[in-house]
Amino acid sequence: MANVKVPYLDLKAQYQSIKPEIDAAISRVLESCQFVLGSEVAGFEQNFATYCGTSECIALNSGTSALHLALLAAGIGPGDEVITVPFTFVASVAAILYAGARPVLIDIEPRSFTMDPAAIEAAVTARTKAILPVHLYGQPADMDPIMDLARGHGLIVIEDAAQAHGAKYKGRPVGSIGDMACFSFYPGKNLGAYGEGGAVTTSNAEYAHTIRMLRDWGQDRKYHHVLRGYNYRMEGFQGAVLGVKLRHLNQWTEARWRIVRQYNDLLVNSDVETPAEMAWAQHVYHVYTVRSTDRDGLQAALTAEGIQTGIHYPVPVHLQPAYADLGYGQGAFPLAEAAAKQVLSLPLYPELPSRAVAQVAAAVGRATAKPTAVTR
Ligand SMILES: Cc1ncc(COP(=O)(O)O)c(C=O)c1O
Repeated sequence: MANVKVPYLDLKAQYQSIKPEIDAAISRVLESCQFVLGSEVAGFEQNFATYCGTSECIALNSGTSALHLALLAAGIGPGDEVITVPFTFVASVAAILYAGARPVLIDIEPRSFTMDPAAIEAAVTARTKAILPVHLYGQPADMDPIMDLARGHGLIVIEDAAQAHGAKYKGRPVGSIGDMACFSFYPGKNLGAYGEGGAVTTSNAEYAHTIRMLRDWGQDRKYHHVLRGYNYRMEGFQGAVLGVKLRHLNQWTEARWRIVRQYNDLLVNSDVETPAEMAWAQHVYHVYTVRSTDRDGLQAALTAEGIQTGIHYPVPVHLQPAYADLGYGQGAFPLAEAAAKQVLSLPLYPELPSRAVAQVAAAVGRATAKPTAVTR
């Protein structure tokens, strides 16, 4: 985009705000030469487990690896089915296929954009082994009915918390509600590494032990491979960076809330639908997503004013060419499909100045001066 006035994200602003701490942490890794796993990663694992209210955290090289290994640790493989949603980043579904199992998709609840618990029962078969709800945009899925259904059917629950670091469901931190939870530390995430990163949190020691082996070639000790594993280890630099950034996460979440309140106030009379915060949720706003019936027009108008936006996500997974063979066609998930046509994510990061928020909101107001009421 020529002449960006408000970027969607500004990772440099955050680095500048914590530069001495980050530089010192990077130097420690250079001095120790613990480039893979090591004490910085182990320290971060401990602190992130405490943050999530679990006894275990296993640090990995991506959120995708976290989903893959959580599914494997749960014993999921060929012949099994895992229930998840089509309105998510493609990794939630792809990881189920990595494990050799079949993704069974169900529609979303349209206000929260998360899994509709009322749709689960009809999707359960004798082959169902797990439910994988996604805490999309930083808002937890409605976990109580999901856990009840899972317990009733003897199913495992794996939270996809890739976008929801620090979010809470009825006061409980995400990451500690299901049997396991998977986080991504991709740089733009609320807690982002300076490269790829991910983790599984759990309070099940057996799952944790299996995942620790699987991330490091299935070894129980050096060169003794008891499982067919992977090279999914976290790098020392990422553990060091994440250790620093975790200390700032709550304060950054509070900054996100201030920006969200400002957007909500300024957009109250506009023709876009602002995000709904569900009664059960402490939402951490990984993204601030509005709905508009003229989403593409709104995005073009903002782009013309130098305002960067994102679409999370323009095509639900079941309509992606790569996943056509899952067997769901157009119309299979009307609420996910409608959301994909209408959502637009506005600039949001903790350092975003309030004058930029005002500028974005004013531009949205101008662009939606004609009626664009949401219809479903
Ligand atoms: C909902 C969701 N699940 C999984 C992932 C995969 O994480 P990673 O990119 O770290 O592999 C992402 C990353 O964007 C995500 O948003």
